[in-house]
Formats: sequence, C-alpha cells, structure tokens
Amino acid sequence: MGEVFLGIDTSCDDTCVALVDEGRRVLASVVSSQEDIHKKFGGILPEFASRAHAERIGWVAEEAIKKSGIGIEDIKGVGVTRGPGLPGSLLVGWEFAKGLSISRNIPLIPLNHLEAHLFACFLGREGEKFPLVGMVVSGGHTLLAYSPEPFKFYLLGQTRDDAGGEALDKVARMLGLSYPGGPELEKLAKKGDPSRIEFPLRILPGTYDFSFSGIKTQAKRIWERKEVSPEDLAASFQKAVVEILVDKLEFALDTLEVNMVVAGGGVVANRLLRERLKELSWRRNIPVWFPPPEFSIDNGAMIAGLAYYRWKEGREGGLEEDIKPSWNLELWKG
Ligand code: KG4
Ligand code: ZN
Repeated sequence: MGEVFLGIDTSCDDTCVALVDEGRRVLASVVSSQEDIHKKFGGILPEFASRAHAERIGWVAEEAIKKSGIGIEDIKGVGVTRGPGLPGSLLVGWEFAKGLSISRNIPLIPLNHLEAHLFACFLGREGEKFPLVGMVVSGGHTLLAYSPEPFKFYLLGQTRDDAGGEALDKVARMLGLSYPGGPELEKLAKKGDPSRIEFPLRILPGTYDFSFSGIKTQAKRIWERKEVSPEDLAASFQKAVVEILVDKLEFALDTLEVNMVVAGGGVVANRLLRERLKELSWRRNIPVWFPPPEFSIDNGAMIAGLAYYRWKEGREGGLEEDIKPSWNLELWKG
C-alpha cells in the first residue's frame, strides 16, 4: 500500500467519499444518492440537498473508510471539491474535510470538480498521452478542455446555455420521466427510432462552444404538436445530443495537436455516447478514454486520485481558504 488519500465531493446532489491508493487504485468508493429526495420535485432543491449532505457525510465517510480496509490513521491527506457547485452543498464537504484535516493533522487539498471529472479517466489505468483534449458533460457543465501536460486542464469552450445533461433532464421531464432524466431517457430511447426526427447536429461551427437550447426548444415544439411517440422523441433527442458532443470533439482533433481524448461527467455514463466515443477512437486512430459509469457520474474517487497528484506537486490548501461555487477552468490561450 502506498500513499492513500480520502476524497470528498458534495458539489451537487450526491454525497461522495472514496479512498484511493497512489492516485489510481480505488480502495473504496461510497455514494449516497439523493434521487429519492429530488425525484418528488423533478429537480434539485438546494436547501434540501445541503441538509441531506449534512445528515449523510459522517456515515458515508465512515462506510468508505471501513470498506477500504485501512485505518483512519493511515490516510495521508484529504482532497475535497472546492467548486464549482451549489454553495450550500459544497460547504458541507468543505467543512467536513477541514475538520478531518485539522483533527488528523493531514494536508487539505482543495480541488476543481471539472478537473476531477477529467482525472476520473485515469483511475485504474496508466499510460495517458499528452497533449490531450478532454470533454466534461454533466448536469451542470458541458465543456472542452485542453491539457498540455499532467494534470493541467484549460478551457477551450463550453455551453452557452444548457448543459448536455440538463437538456436531457428537461426533455425527459417533458416526457413525464422521473429525475434524473438522462438514464430514464436512455431506457425509453431503446424502444424508439433515432432517425424519426432530424435535429441540427452541427452547432456553432468553427468554435469549441456548445448550445443545446435550440434542439431543446425544437423537441418541445414537436412534442406539443403530438407528432411523435415519446420513444421516438427520446431516441432522436438522445442521438442529437450525442452527435453534437462528438462533432465538437472532431473539431478539436482537427484544430489542435492531440495525442488522446478523455471524457467524463454523468452523461458519459450513456451507452450511445460511449459507443460513439469508441467509434471515434477507431476512425481517427486515437486513444479515447472514459471512466466506467460509476466514475463518470459524481464520485469521491476522482477527487482522492487527483488530490494525490496535487499533493505531490506541493499544492496544499490553506485552511483559511473558502469554497468557490462558480470556479471555472482557466481559459486556454494557445
Ligand atoms: O456528473 P454528474 O453526476 O453531476 C453533475 O456534476 O452534474 O451528472 C449528472 C447528469 C444528469 O443530467 C443525468 O441525467 C446525466 O448526468 N446522466 C445521464 C446518464 N447517467 C447520468 N445522461 C444520459 N445517460 C445516462 N446513462
Ligand atoms: Zn459532476
């Protein structure tokens, strides 16, 4: 056993704690999902989310440590999401991590949630090649990043309106599916015809930016005219979102020096997107890595893993620092 870090993420609606050995080997990862709470409202209620985090963080951490098979005295440091995320939710993990850092006298490593989603691609494997292009597609974010060296990520472009997951969630809700809509829409889409509706698949050409509000509005109009079955709409819309994402990756590959592609975030748990990423890898003869579904969605392992590398770089956080709810990646300036 090498240096083991504990990672905490409470940025959104899942309470996540994990322990990772030497940045790559996941010893334990525990996620307490709040789906049960937010389902009733069809979306996340921030007040409820932070309260649930506060109730759960203690036993989630205990469970993760127990499962890891190591003692609390063997934890080398604690990584925690500083942002972006919901302020009230972030604060719970942040304060808990500070407490652990102070009481155990171990370093506190504050991390960016978006960088961690990209780092998740390296869990359980080795041999990544730089420079690389990374894509994060979640409920709150959709962006392309450029990484010239390990593990620095710069922003190339991002969504100008809805995140990919958000668009899927909204259309799913319109179809009467429960929250979170992405996985439900995926199930429904299996029974539908993806070529039933033609959405524009090339959005904001010549830029690294995304937009999903146009196809979302189009889907709404079609649905209100009752011209399609929910299955066909689900299949066609899911295909459109996936095609838009892959099209942007292609643009990045056409315009930048890239030796591999990585993709993370909740929507990367989607089967169709995973298939299309594999197809892209084969067609363009470039490695494309993405995490297994459990580490595509929010988790503590991506935090614990990245924390180890940041600690090796000597990047510890001051205990006087605070959360950064709208922390984005630094812009790539070429
Ligand atoms: O990364 P994540 O767990 O939390 C955020 O940081 O936002 O991403 C959650 C998003 C939600 O919009 C959810 O609907 C979507 O990921 N998602 C999926 C799938 N699993 C989760 N979307 C499509 N297909 C899935 N299988
Ligand atoms: Zn996330």
